Amino acid sequence: MSPLLVVDNLHVRFRDRSNGAWVDAVRGVDLTLAAGRTLGLVGESGCGKTSLARSILRLIPAHTGNVHFEGQSILELPERALRPLRRRMQIIFQDPGGSLDARMKVGAIVGEPLLVHRIARGATLRKRVGQLLEQVGLDPADASRYPHSFSGGQKQRIAIARAMATEPSLIVCDEPTSALDVSVQASILRLLQELQASTNVSYLFITHDLAVARCMCDEIAVLQDGRVVEFGESESVLRSWLDQNPSPSRASSTSI
Ligand SMILES: Nc1ncnc2c1ncn2[C@@H]1O[C@H](COP(=O)(O)OP(=O)(O)OP(=O)(O)O)[C@@H](O)[C@H]1O
Ligand SMILES: [Mg+2]
Repeated sequence: MSPLLVVDNLHVRFRDRSNGAWVDAVRGVDLTLAAGRTLGLVGESGCGKTSLARSILRLIPAHTGNVHFEGQSILELPERALRPLRRRMQIIFQDPGGSLDARMKVGAIVGEPLLVHRIARGATLRKRVGQLLEQVGLDPADASRYPHSFSGGQKQRIAIARAMATEPSLIVCDEPTSALDVSVQASILRLLQELQASTNVSYLFITHDLAVARCMCDEIAVLQDGRVVEFGESESVLRSWLDQNPSPSRASSTSI
């Protein structure tokens, strides 16, 4: 079976606003992700994790390279042909507050992708939104409330329900728990694991936290300066990273 996602020699560049120079954020990345698996992207701040993930989803343009998703070369597709694939790939951000529109009720937020992709409307839509809220541990009645009345962890659950609405096969999780209290983090990670077990969704999981990476990821790619410097099964990558960074502060560190 071919992998869900294959990234081939991907490059992403930005123009620096202050001096017009090119910034090479991603420099020739190759990655593979199978269905139902979690691939961790770790590395220091600014090494290109978010740029890589966003270019894979075509939220920002790639400079060169290829991305195959569900067997299709998505960087070459015109926007119209990309639409049906867009519902199969979603993203969850670090700041659940900022990623939810404060003026919309939770039901409208979670149901929006279903409306946009013409998957459901009316009573069917409301029923599906109720199911999605239950699936993430919220109450279907929460659909009529606004995001501000929820805690950070609950807001992240709303964002996850929205991401799950279109039954994606890939979700990019960009530091989904780093803005949350430690006690809440574990419950959100558990929810993501449960959703993966029940739907076979794959995660491209960005994190600074080695404990989170160990708990969530089957495989890990370490990014440095826009390049993958290490890739493999999660336990062996983490072990080798700790071996190569043996200073006391680093060895006991739980974050990159
Ligand atoms: N829109 C942009 N315009 C110009 N430069 C950018 C832009 N977005 C990112 N960069 C630059 O690209 C590089 C990679 O940034 P990116 O946000 O992908 O890193 P990251 O690994 O996600 O960092 P963090 O862990 O802090 O989120 C950085 O040098 C950053 O300054
Ligand atoms: Mg980032």
